[in-house]
Amino acid sequence: MSVIDEIKQKTDIVDIVSQYTSLKKAGRNLTALCPFHSEKRPSFFVYPEQQSWHCFGACNSGGDVFSFVMKKQGIDFGETLRLLGQRAGVTIPSRFEPDARKDERERLYQANETAAQYFHNLLLNSPAAEKARNYLASRSISAKTVSDFQLGFSLNSWEALKQYLLERGYAESELLEAGLLVETEDGKTHDRFRHRLIFPINDSRSHTTGFGARVLDDSLPKYLNSPQTPAFDKSSSLYGINLAAPAIRQQNQAVIVEGYTDVITAHQNGFTNVVATMGTAVTEKQLTFLKKLSNAGKIALALDADAAGEEATLRSINYENSLDIEVKFVILPKGKDPDDVIREDSQTWQAMVDGALPVVDYTFTRDESLAIDRLLPIIAMIKDDLRRDRYLTKLAELSGHAYKKLELESTLQGYLTRQKVKEPKSAAVARVVHSLHSSPLEEYCLALLLQHLQLKNKNEGLLAEYFENSENREVFTAWQQTDDLSSLKAWLDTTIWEHLDALINKKIPSNRIEQKYANCVLRLREKFLRALETKKGAALTLEAETGGTVAEMAKLKEQGIEVSTQLREVFTQKASRDWEQRR
Ligand code: CTP
Ligand code: MN
Repeated sequence: MSVIDEIKQKTDIVDIVSQYTSLKKAGRNLTALCPFHSEKRPSFFVYPEQQSWHCFGACNSGGDVFSFVMKKQGIDFGETLRLLGQRAGVTIPSRFEPDARKDERERLYQANETAAQYFHNLLLNSPAAEKARNYLASRSISAKTVSDFQLGFSLNSWEALKQYLLERGYAESELLEAGLLVETEDGKTHDRFRHRLIFPINDSRSHTTGFGARVLDDSLPKYLNSPQTPAFDKSSSLYGINLAAPAIRQQNQAVIVEGYTDVITAHQNGFTNVVATMGTAVTEKQLTFLKKLSNAGKIALALDADAAGEEATLRSINYENSLDIEVKFVILPKGKDPDDVIREDSQTWQAMVDGALPVVDYTFTRDESLAIDRLLPIIAMIKDDLRRDRYLTKLAELSGHAYKKLELESTLQGYLTRQKVKEPKSAAVARVVHSLHSSPLEEYCLALLLQHLQLKNKNEGLLAEYFENSENREVFTAWQQTDDLSSLKAWLDTTIWEHLDALINKKIPSNRIEQKYANCVLRLREKFLRALETKKGAALTLEAETGGTVAEMAKLKEQGIEVSTQLREVFTQKASRDWEQRR
C-alpha cells in the first residue's frame, strides 16, 4: 500500500478541519464558518462520507483532506503529506458512545407516533390539506395506501405541532431531541416540518423513528428528513420495512429502492417486499438485517441508472464479500425510478426484478472500459475459491475475451501474493478500501493523457477541480506544465512518483483514443457537477432548517440553478455523442 493510501486511510477530514474551525452537525454532514475567509453565517461544509469539503461562500471551491491542509497552511502537497503522515502515526482511541437509554428512546417513539397521528388526521380531514389530497390523487395514491403508510400533512405554521404536543404533556426538550422541532440561533424553537406531505418512517417493530417530508410543488429542498436522533439513524433505516417484513420472510427476497414514492407505488401494486434506503448508499447494517429477514435469500438493488448509483454499487460489492450474499442489480431505464416504471406497467417491473444481474455483469453493462480495473481488486478479496474462479471466467467472457482468463488470473495472483506475503490482513482490507475510495475514472483519464501526449492539443475543457483526489490533481497540474514525460517527475513530489508510474503503465487498449478522452472528460464533468449539486442541496436544506435569510436562500438557489444548467449541457452533449458513435 502506498504512503498516500495509508495516510488517507488513517486520517479523518473531520478531525483535521476541527482543528481550525468549530464544526456543527447538519444532517449527515457538518458545517462551519469558513476557515479561509471571514463570514457571519456558515457556508463551509464537510462531507464525512466522501471525506471532502466545500465552501459555497467566497472560496467557491472544495476538495479532499490534502487540499484543505494545503490551502489552510499554504504548503505544498509533499509538506502536507509529511504533516499528515506524522499525525497518522498516532493511534487515536475511538470514542465509544453508549446506547441512549431505552426508556428515553421509547419516549421519542411516543412523541413521533403522536405527531404521525396528528399529521395523518390533518391530511384526511383538514380543509388546509386540500392541495395535498389533490396531489396524492394526481399521483394515483389510493386511500388504502394513505392509511397503510399513515401518510400525513403538516400545516403552513411555525408552531402548530409544537402546541399540539406540548398540550399533551411532551417537553420542548424532548421534541427537540426527536427532531420534530428546530432550534434557531437565538434559542427559540419551531416546527421542523411545515406545509409538507409527511412520510412517517418506522422500524421493523413499527416504532415511528422519524419522518420524511415532501414539498407539494417543485420548490427546494424537495425533501426534509428527521435529523439523526437517539431514535432515528438514516443509515440503518429502511423505509417501509414494517409493511414489507412479512413478504420478505415469505418470499425470501427483498428489493431495495431509493425513494419513498418508489416503495409506496410498489406496495400499492402488490410488490410488498420493497423497501427504500431514502436516497443514501446502501449500508452493511441494512444488508445484514435483510439477509437475516430473508433467510439469506435474494437481495436486489434497484437504484438510479446514472452516476449517483455508481458509488452505491461499488460499496455493495464490498458488502457482498464481507456478508457473503449475492446482491443483484435491477437495470432501470435512464431517467426513470421504480415509481415511474411500475405506474407505466407493473409487469415490466416484475420482469426487471426477475432479470436482475449479478454485480460483475452489471458493472460491465455500465462501463466496459473501467470494469476490469474496478472488479479485479475486489474479486481478489473473495475468500471462496470457487466463487472467485466463477467471477474470473465471467469477466473474461464479458470482455469478449479481450482479456484472457489466464492474464486476469495472474494479475489477481499478484494481489493475492501481496496480501499473503507482505501485507497483514488489515492492509489487504485497506487495499480494497482504497480501490473503493480512489476514482478509477480520474485515473483512467490521467493514464490516457500521460500515455498519449498528443491529447494536449485537444481542448475538451478538462479542469483541475474535476479531480477530487489531490494526488490526481497534482499529476494533472504537472501534466499541464510540461511537454514530456521525463520532466514530469521534477514537478512532482517524490511521494507521488509511484502513483505516476502506475498511471503511465496502466493497460489501456489504444484504439479510438480521442473519443475515449472526450467521453472521459464529459463523465468527469458530470461527476463533478453532480457532486456539486448534491452538496448545494445539503447547504440549502440547512439554510431552510435554521431559518436562513431570504437573500441567502436566493443566492444558494441561484447557484443551484447554474449547476443544473451546466449538467443539462453535459447530458445534451452525451446524447449527441452517443448518437454519433452509433452511426
Ligand atoms: N431524498 C432525501 N432528501 C432529499 C432528496 C432525496 O431524503 N433532499 C431521499 C428521499 O427518500 C427520496 C429519495 O431520496 O424519496 C429519492 O430522491 P428523488 O429521486 O429525488 O425523489 P423521489 O422519491 O423520486 O420523489 P418524487 O417522485 O416525489 O419526486
Ligand atoms: Mn420519483
